[in-house]
Amino acid sequence: MKELYLAAGCFWGGEKYLSLLDGVIETEVGFANGNTENPTYREVYTDTTGYAETIRVVFDPEVLPLEKLVRMYFRSIDPLSVNRQGEDEGTRYRTGVYYVDAEDLPALKAVFAEEEAKAGAPLAVELLPLKNFYPADESHQDYLEKNPGGYCHLPFALFEFASSEAGKKKRAYREIEDMLASLLEGETDPVVRMAETAAVVHERMGFFWTGFYRVRGDELLLGPFQGPVACIHIPFGKGVCGTAWKENRTIVVPDVEAFPGHIACSSRSRSEIVVPLREKGQVVAVLDIDSTETGTFDSTDALMLERLLRIV
Ligand code: SME
Repeated sequence: MKELYLAAGCFWGGEKYLSLLDGVIETEVGFANGNTENPTYREVYTDTTGYAETIRVVFDPEVLPLEKLVRMYFRSIDPLSVNRQGEDEGTRYRTGVYYVDAEDLPALKAVFAEEEAKAGAPLAVELLPLKNFYPADESHQDYLEKNPGGYCHLPFALFEFASSEAGKKKRAYREIEDMLASLLEGETDPVVRMAETAAVVHERMGFFWTGFYRVRGDELLLGPFQGPVACIHIPFGKGVCGTAWKENRTIVVPDVEAFPGHIACSSRSRSEIVVPLREKGQVVAVLDIDSTETGTFDSTDALMLERLLRIV
């Protein structure tokens, strides 16, 4: 995973936009490259602290290369505007790319040169090493998720663009979340909840095999699931499923042949992801998904399936 700090005007809309992209694993809003210690939102708002509203982005470069992230960032700003984005004005709303890894500089410079040629004028976007960053308080984190009608300087069409251009996988999983939230409303039986989850994920994503194994004593027991006949018993610590249970973590297997101890229920399965379902931190089941192609699953599937299992 890599990290980059992006100042893009008001951080409420900027965070929403960036978090839609596949490969963006985590975002946090805060204040970067200023001159005081522990700045509050109020202090930064006075525009005397030197801080810029900034989004800390943790991303997976295998899914979202650095260059693509920065190009997408440029689509969300007016790169020629000095200390102003939309209606928001002040040095706190300046734009900037602040890096933590000096090795990223040549690639960043290349994207800046591209964007400057496109804009046909010198960019107002800073390109500097990160000096400091203080997270804003909780009420500002995921602000537009918490306040769907809240103020946003970015047009809705831009969020559509992000989802259709570089956020297709996240969008598909979010649609599944919405569908399941309404399907499962008021249903408390765990088998019903797992059965509907397996069915919706399987149908919407078109996987080869999608299902749960439940912890029963010292083994995993099959079901509910969608797809071909599968092994019924998996011992603790065995196969991908038993390992995910033992280590209490999500496991992405790009090529099943390269995973020692993989249990082949079907010879057609080529890649796999296993996500633990927890109750009070304890693994009570695992969600196992198989694909007939190698490399189907990545960190975005892991992130979104972990989110999904929180509502199951
Ligand atoms: N391959 C799994 C076993 C379950 S089947 O894929 C449905 C594993 O190694 O745990």
